[in-house]
Amino acid sequence: MSNEIYFAAGCFWGAEHFFKQIEGVESTEVGFANGNTDNPTYKEVYTDKTGYAETVRVQYNPLKVSLPFLLEMYLKAIDPTSLNQQGEDRGTRYRTGVYYTNEADAPFVRYILSLAAKRFSKPIVVEVLPLRNFFRAEEYHQNYLDNNPNGYCHLPVALFEYARNNRDTATLEKCAHYELLLKQVQSLAEGETDSIALMANVCALIQETFRFWWTGFYRVVGEELLLGPFQGPVACMHIPYGKGVCGTAWQQESTLLVPDVEQFPGHIACSAASRSEIVVPVRQQGRVAAVLDIDSERACCFDHCDKHWLELMVGVFFQ
Ligand code: SME
Repeated sequence: MSNEIYFAAGCFWGAEHFFKQIEGVESTEVGFANGNTDNPTYKEVYTDKTGYAETVRVQYNPLKVSLPFLLEMYLKAIDPTSLNQQGEDRGTRYRTGVYYTNEADAPFVRYILSLAAKRFSKPIVVEVLPLRNFFRAEEYHQNYLDNNPNGYCHLPVALFEYARNNRDTATLEKCAHYELLLKQVQSLAEGETDSIALMANVCALIQETFRFWWTGFYRVVGEELLLGPFQGPVACMHIPYGKGVCGTAWQQESTLLVPDVEQFPGHIACSAASRSEIVVPVRQQGRVAAVLDIDSERACCFDHCDKHWLELMVGVFFQ
């Protein structure tokens, strides 16, 4: 499992070296992003007339490190309030930016930057944009500081140590919990023919472990989703096909991650406290028979890691 995100963080020599230190980062590549010419060379980008930003492509394992953790680390390596300058490097090619290739990542980036904004007195000027283009830089620039340990670097050495010593323990612990949960669900499912009884216990297990705001199932009954079993406050009982997050996940037959429920058109607010949500379809002989819906009162609570484990968990049903 592998995700990617692109960081413009000033000179890409130091920036790449920084990201390479983080546990869960699988590979990195330096290049030029979101500019206006074809196949730019370093020399051309250096003129500052191509519109390109020096950028690091980061490929990471979401079961080891989350996007929010990478963003927090990124914020340690830049001055997010400095426009077109990092360290002594000046120019639009040294601007800061987070460029995503998966639209679902955008709310996570905006959320983390909005939290960071409270810590800075000056406005944050980091671009948040979809990746328009990316051209790999010449080989000489790849892994520059590994190959040139005394080479120029705008970042302090202590920062690399910091990146090496800090792991995303929240994600690692979450995975360990899910791994155990999956084993428990598998053993509960063994020989059990009543799916409602199993669903009831799965809700209990998830709630005991994570204490989310609301965890429950909606079953496909005729043309709609019908509530239950669940744990948490009173919830709406009927959801039509294609409506709300649950009805849409049923229609699309795929997991929906909703980092900010207010940004999901048609979201059904059973409770005003719910800020983020994940809905995972449960299949029986290839067709959606139910959905597992989990709500949190925290924005951006669910990510690819939750999706991975919850899909495995509901895969145990109806086997
Ligand atoms: N928010 C869901 C409705 C179910 S409650 O969250 C329990 C939706 O939009 O489908």
